[in-house]
Amino acid sequence: MNSGADFIVVANRLPVDLDRAPDGTQRWKHSPGGLVSALEPFLRSRKGAWVGWPGVADVDVDEFEDEGLRLSPVTLSSTEVRDYYEGFSNATLWPLYHDVVEAPVFDRAWWDSYVKVNHRFAEATAAIAEPGATVWIQDYQLQLVPALLREQRPDLRIGFFLHIPFPPVELFMQLPWRSEIVRGLLGADLVGFHRPGGAQNFLWLARRLVGLEPSRAAVGVRTRPGLIHVGDRPVRVGAFPISIDSAGLDGTARKRDVMQRAQQIRQDLGNPRKILLGVDRLDYTKGIDVRLYALQELLIEGRIDPDDVTMVQLATPSRERVEHYQRMRAGIEQVVSRINGEFGRVGHPVVHYLHQSVDRRELVAFFSAADVMVVTPVRDGMNLVCKEYVACRHDLGGTLVLSEFAGAAAELTSAFLVNPHDLDGVKNALHAALMIDPAEGRRRMRALRRQVLTHDVDRWARSFLEALGSQGLN
Ligand code: ADP
Ligand code: G6P
Repeated sequence: MNSGADFIVVANRLPVDLDRAPDGTQRWKHSPGGLVSALEPFLRSRKGAWVGWPGVADVDVDEFEDEGLRLSPVTLSSTEVRDYYEGFSNATLWPLYHDVVEAPVFDRAWWDSYVKVNHRFAEATAAIAEPGATVWIQDYQLQLVPALLREQRPDLRIGFFLHIPFPPVELFMQLPWRSEIVRGLLGADLVGFHRPGGAQNFLWLARRLVGLEPSRAAVGVRTRPGLIHVGDRPVRVGAFPISIDSAGLDGTARKRDVMQRAQQIRQDLGNPRKILLGVDRLDYTKGIDVRLYALQELLIEGRIDPDDVTMVQLATPSRERVEHYQRMRAGIEQVVSRINGEFGRVGHPVVHYLHQSVDRRELVAFFSAADVMVVTPVRDGMNLVCKEYVACRHDLGGTLVLSEFAGAAAELTSAFLVNPHDLDGVKNALHAALMIDPAEGRRRMRALRRQVLTHDVDRWARSFLEALGSQGLN
């Protein structure tokens, strides 16, 4: 398997994680997060190569093939996991790019590790890319790779896509290494963001920090990218809102065993009149606390009856050694137990909180069983969960409550849109969603489905690769 690859995705994580049991046995399991959920189905259908970290420190795994997908592992030492991944990526860039909802930590040793690891990813990619190959680099962990790779391999066509929000310039300017990051991204032929606002912010920074002359016209969605000349090389900067494998999920949700499992879930929960559902990585940007506080106040005020309403919160464990995450987890678990302590009965808690990841079919069954899907991030680049919920509701049942601060809100305008900082607004939206007239619910869901089914991940990837002028489309 040492031949070159002509289409390569480069991401911090491989689509599968190495899971090591205490008895020494190991297996590969699906990696967490939206990047993998979105890109994996697309890349599998194209038989490309994927360069990434296998999810555990200090393992050296040879390249291997997984159902037609070529996986090329990059090793990280435990110090690099601490400094590059948990540190600079997830305690500096993640909070900085999500509106500083937690204070970013600026640590010079973490930056050094980020530079070193980005070099390693660039080298690993250069080593397997065929002459003239298309390389698509993903996300905030690898923002230096475009320029580093171009230095080694100017023959490649290089795209970069940021899966999280690109922050307002005033916040980005806090970063001590701001110019280096902008220069790193400018190594790509095409830099993609979810929203035109992110692209616009980046164009402004290229002028301010690198002294370039970007185009001034407004950037459109999938059209009219901005343009910057770096020397005589054009760099395009555009907005490409990501999506999901809508038809695949729609098909799964229609399967008889999945529908039966959804009924079983309702029964297991005691057949409540209404089920509220939250599905997230356990992350402080997701506003899990916001929805719990809203539920708690509605119960206290007697606007909803604990005998009628049950909430399920599925929360995938995430970045558990980062302090921001440890604090948030403790806070959420405390509110859950307060609500259950006050309003639960034996055999009937109001909130079912599972700190677990569930498999795809089980997740679809949960989506199908839920009357109200609650998605309340304080900031989210896109948020795929809300689109997944819509794709699963072929019965036109179910209501979506969605934060205005998720990228998806620009597309899913028939949801109950809420400002997660306005607790009364969230309470009113939850209440309205629980009480909705069924015909009104169907009308909203029909409109949401029209958007999600016609704007799937394949369309996203094609629009990006077309703008990149890639030969990777087949
Ligand atoms: P992020 O990328 O920040 O995690 P997204 O909403 O974009 O947020 O994507 C999250 C992905 O992870 C979705 O595909 C969602 O279905 C999946 N997911 C989240 N929580 C769980 C869970 N508890 N079990 C299984 N899958 C989950
Ligand atoms: C988000 C990020 C991804 C990341 C995922 C899971 O989707 O945009 O880059 O892979 O979260 O986070 P983790 O830190 O576990 O990779």
